[in-house]
Parts: sequence; structure tokens; C-alpha cells
Amino acid sequence: FIVLPFLVVLAWVYIRSNSRHRGRSSKLPPGPYPFPIIGNILQLGRNPHQLLAKLSSTYGPLMSLHLGSMYTVVVSSPEMAKEILQKHDLVFSSRRTIPTAGQAHDFHKNSIGLLPVGTKWRNLRKICKEHMFSTHSLEASQGLRQEKLEKLCEYVQECCLKGRVVNIGEVSFVTTLNLMSATLFSIDFTDFDSDNAQKWKETIEGFLGTVGSPNVADFFPVLKMFDPQGIKRGADFYIGKLLSMFEDVINQRLESRKTDSDSSKKKKDLLEVLIHLSEGSEYDLSLEGMKHFLLELFMAGSDTTASTVEWVMTELLQNPKKMSSVKNELITVIEKNIQVKESDISKLPYLEAVINEVLRLHPPGPLLLPRKSESDVEIKGYIIPKNSQILVNVWAIGRESSAWPNPNTFEPERFLDKKFDFNGQNFNFIPFGSGRRMCPGLQLAIRMLPIMVASLIHNFDWKLELGTKPEELDTSEKFGLALHKAVPLKALPIKL
Ligand code: HEM
Repeated sequence: FIVLPFLVVLAWVYIRSNSRHRGRSSKLPPGPYPFPIIGNILQLGRNPHQLLAKLSSTYGPLMSLHLGSMYTVVVSSPEMAKEILQKHDLVFSSRRTIPTAGQAHDFHKNSIGLLPVGTKWRNLRKICKEHMFSTHSLEASQGLRQEKLEKLCEYVQECCLKGRVVNIGEVSFVTTLNLMSATLFSIDFTDFDSDNAQKWKETIEGFLGTVGSPNVADFFPVLKMFDPQGIKRGADFYIGKLLSMFEDVINQRLESRKTDSDSSKKKKDLLEVLIHLSEGSEYDLSLEGMKHFLLELFMAGSDTTASTVEWVMTELLQNPKKMSSVKNELITVIEKNIQVKESDISKLPYLEAVINEVLRLHPPGPLLLPRKSESDVEIKGYIIPKNSQILVNVWAIGRESSAWPNPNTFEPERFLDKKFDFNGQNFNFIPFGSGRRMCPGLQLAIRMLPIMVASLIHNFDWKLELGTKPEELDTSEKFGLALHKAVPLKALPIKL
């Protein structure tokens, strides 16, 4: 009695959405045959970016899928990505239907990632570009990040002395949280083994785990009100908890500005920039808006950056010769036992090439963030209907053999003679997306990544745990909000 009405409603939704597309089906991009009701959901598997790449080798770089009631087009070549993200940028600039989890505490009404292109979204992007992540703001806050790197080195040093194996993904995550919290509000959020660290880590991981899980209600909107997997309830809990933690941080700062105006003026973090903007008339920034804004930047920046660092260490430990090349470069630029600084990055082209190569092979957002078509668009003779979901398979594009010789091999050297500046104009390589929705945190990310990696390897050697040989290292991927390593990387640091 409970299941039957669901099935009837689902069948109705399926027939309705199919009949809507049937008239135009001969002009839709080709794709695998959809099963009744569920469509192609089962063909996605645990790592949809990989299975979609395989399917697109049969159906082509513009491919139709039916994910439940959601008609989806998957883009898998640089040429098609350029059509979508550059030629028809405006039509494809909105996000697809808001995921159920994103509606908790009205997150979607304040989120840069989820708002449609419009005045509010433009203002938030402008704040990011001109105030938060401008060269000036990031230069001013670099000292705050430097302190957190010293903490990372102290922790690794302690593990050396105790002969303790380091979980690289975890230390990268905690360090990224520290770098982000230092940059955003000069607060020491987490210590590697402290209770406070645990509280923040658990809440943030709970949030990322909940929001990152595929939700059946997003594919079949009729199920939304039942929240069958409890994802909306989980998102309500974690977003609520995080918003109140951020509210405390903002209130403490407002209080300290009242009581001690001199010391607050000295703060060089991005919260100070934000409060300053909220006092002016250019942007309509309320306390509510600031809380959501900080929460979003924190979430968007932490998992993506931390998982990239874990992949860099994985690739380097699997390729000892490349590891030696990075170390040699570091020692020629920075003296032994001296901490790497952001100002050193421009003198480390090989390290930069290593990071680019990792972003090519393991982009943290392998399918970008889903876009939506605002109207019917014709591309290369195919029709992409209004309201289709668009997934750009950046992972497949990074491994496209016509663009990259030996696409599955880790060869940082390929980036030495070709300069990529991540401006989203080279469609062979778009790990930060392209067009008006491109990642606004890019400038911060490309400062945090090299200094974290350099801090881990400049003064330490690393040995894989339990005598694992480099070629035995498990490099399988786990799809989520960011693309993680399925088996955490653990290694023993050795002081040089
Ligand atoms: C969006 C990648 C770090 C904030 C995105 C998108 C990608 C991406 C692929 C979607 C772009 C599109 O749809 O075309 C990355 C990578 C990072 C990183 C690879 C690090 C390795 C950061 C950081 C922040 C940030 C550090 C902020 C502190 C955002 C926001 C959006 C976004 C707010 C939504 C933009 C919008 O929809 O208008 N990022 N990101 N990201 N990223 Fe990042």
C-alpha cells in the first residue's frame, strides 16, 4: 500500500517527461537506452565520471541520459565544452534544479554556487573578485597562512620522532581548514589532535558526507516530501550547526571591534573586509548573508584543496623520480630547514607543473557543478532542450588522447613548456571550470596548494606504510563532493 502509489506517480512522471522529449528525440544527442522510470541511473555506478567517460566513447562527446525524471546532457570533449561554456555561456550559466540538501536553512537563496545568474549572485562574485580574493587581500593575509604551515611541519616532525605514520588526507584536510580559517577570520580552528579539531572536523565532514551523497529525491522530485534517505534532515542539522558556529565567530569580531577598535583594525583577514563592506551601501550584506557566505567559501575551498594535496602526494610517492625532481628544485630555491613561503611559488615551475598534472588527472570537481539550459539550444545539429541538466566531464577531457599524449601517465613535464593560466580559455584543461561560473576561489587555491605540498616534502622524506612498494599503491578514486582517494594515503615521514 505504501509502495504502490509511489510507483504509479513515478510512472506518470516518467511518461510525462518522455512524451515531452519524444517529439524532438531524433534531434537529441544520442545516448544509452533508458529503463522505465529509473532511466540510466544504474549506469552511473559509484564513479559516474569514469562510467560516463566510457559511455561517451560509444555515444559521442554530447550524450543524452535520463536520470530518473531529469533529462541530462553529458559533455565530454574540449570542443563541446567550448560550445557550452564559452559560445553559449549565458544560456548554460544557471545551476540545475536546486538539490534538496541545498535548500536547508534557505542555503540556496544565499549561495554563490546555487543562485541563478542575477543581481545577488553578481554582487557576491564581485565581493570575491574585488575584495576577498584580490591580489591585495591575499598578499595581506599571507602571514596568517604562513603560521599554519609551521604547525603542519611541527606535527610532521613530531610524527618523525615518534615513528608515527601520517594519514596524508587527514593532515591536508586539517591544514586546509586552518589555512581557510586563518585567511577568513584569523582564528585557529583546529589542532591536529585536539577536541576542538575533532568537533569542527566531524561537523564539516558530516556536512560534506550528507550533502555529497546522491539523493533519490533529486531524481524523483515527488519523493522530496518524504526525504527517504534522511538527507534533508541531515543537511538541516549540519548547516544549522555550522551557521551558528559562524555566527559566533562574526559576533565575537563585532564585539571586539566595539571594545578594542585598535586591535581589530590591525586584522588583515577576509572577515574584516566583509564587515567593512556590510557597513557601506554598495552591497546589501546582512549578518545572515555573511554567515552563509563564509560557510560556503569554507566548504567549497576545504575538501577540494585537501583532496588535491593527497593526490599530489600519492602521485609523487608512486613516481620516486618525479619526487626527486621536486625536491631538487626546492633545495635550489629554499635552504634546508627553512619554511617555504608563498613568495617562493613563482620560483618553483616544476612543483607548479606537478600540481597542474594532478589537477588534469584527478580534478576535484570531475563533472564541474551541474548547469542547466535556460532555453532550447542547437549545438552541432543536436537540440539541447530547455531545463536540461548539463554535466561537463572534466575528468574525461583531461584524459582525452587527442589532446594529451599518454593521457593516463603522470608526466608533469608536459606542463613545463606549455603555460596554462587557468583562465578557462583552454578547454583541454578546465579543473576550475570556465565562463562566468568559474571557480571564484582559484587565486586562493593556487596559493594554498603549492605551499602545502612544498611544506610536506621540502624537509622530509616519505616512506609508504607497511613496506608497500610504489607500484602497489592503490590509486582508485571515490566520487563525492570532491574526488577523493578511495583508500587513504598513509606514509611515514623521515627527517632529512
Ligand atoms: C565553483 C574547482 C577551490 C569557491 C567551482 C567549480 C569548480 C571548482 C570546478 C565549478 C565551476 C563551473 O561550474 O564552471 C575548484 C578547485 C579548487 C577549488 C579544483 C581547489 C583545488 C576553491 C576555493 C574556494 C572556492 C579555495 C573559496 C575559498 C568556489 C565557489 C564556487 C566554486 C564559491 C561556485 C561559483 C559559482 O557557482 O558562481 N570550483 N575550486 N573554490 N568554487 Fe571552487
